[in-house]
Amino acid sequence: MDKLRVLSGVQPTGNLHLGNYLGAIRNWVEGQSQYDNFFCVVDLHAITVPHNPQTLAQDSYTIAALYLACGIDLAYSTIFIQSHVSAHSELAWLLNCITPLNWLEGMIQFKEKALKQGQNVSVGLLDYPVLMAADILLYDADLVPVGEDQKQHIELTRDLVIRLNDRFGTKENPVLKLPKPLIRQEGARVMSLVDGTRKMSKSDPSELSRINLLDSPEEIAKKIKRCKTDPIKGLEFDNPERPECNNLLTLYMLLSGKTKETVAAECQDMGWGKFKPLLTETTITALKPIQDKYQEVMADKNYLESVLKAGREQAEAIANPILAKVKAALGYTQPL
Ligand code: AMP
Ligand code: TRP
Repeated sequence: MDKLRVLSGVQPTGNLHLGNYLGAIRNWVEGQSQYDNFFCVVDLHAITVPHNPQTLAQDSYTIAALYLACGIDLAYSTIFIQSHVSAHSELAWLLNCITPLNWLEGMIQFKEKALKQGQNVSVGLLDYPVLMAADILLYDADLVPVGEDQKQHIELTRDLVIRLNDRFGTKENPVLKLPKPLIRQEGARVMSLVDGTRKMSKSDPSELSRINLLDSPEEIAKKIKRCKTDPIKGLEFDNPERPECNNLLTLYMLLSGKTKETVAAECQDMGWGKFKPLLTETTITALKPIQDKYQEVMADKNYLESVLKAGREQAEAIANPILAKVKAALGYTQPL
């Protein structure tokens, strides 16, 4: 039987943090041998909020290199840059024309980001989920591994498939495939280090709120030292009154590879003074191999470029025929 296909992506805005890693990329790596995988750097999404043209290219390379550094294996996976495959923009346009405006206006991420932008909200920000749907649908993806915050966007993608198939396909011959989200429970929502009720985010103005994959041991130690805790002795999971405690124990669990039961037993009588150095050590140790591999990949630009060139070719080989199929279903003539 053919392997199921997986597609996912991360935006090249700033550095990746532990939320991106534990919520998304780690799951891509762990599942990759079972699937046929496409991982893109979604640089078209990165310009939906004001961006810096001086750093966009470099940031895109950084994310691609981090994919490799985190363990994405080219034997199972294709890595490419979204803007290199023009079918993404083109399918997004076609999907735009069947997307009801009010579906987009109701998206949580749009409303949150729009609030932050004030007067300066672009049409692109509203359209962000349609472009994301195009990313997924161009590859006939079965599964989309993401963090919890992306679930609503995948539901919208599914609604678009149903609508398009209903209008332009037949029951026997649907135009597009219906994808499913793949969201792991643990790590799906890593919280900020300064407020356990908010998610860790690239756009949080406080650097202390997140640990980046490329942070030095000193930075990691400083951030954990200063992170928010509570005055209660003894550490525990799943107490809604103690969101920071749950978050930090979850980080320790995921980064150490220990089970929840082991961590719960190990930490039940611990105070923060003992736990923080332990979490610091564990985080530094877990990130070291990723950081070393990242340096290695970045030192060889030719290699990285060859990966992205091959990735583009492999991506186009799947995406272009699917785009052609959608255009045919919508009634377009073939280019002469
Ligand atoms: P972004 O940084 O918005 O491009 O997100 C890239 C991936 O990381 C997506 O799959 C997100 O769902 C995931 N992600 C981002 N922030 C978090 C977080 N705090 N916890 C878990 N997953 C996250
Ligand atoms: N919107 C996603 C995020 O911010 C990134 C993304 C863009 C994506 N296109 C995608 C994720 C396709 C999965 C599949 O996290």
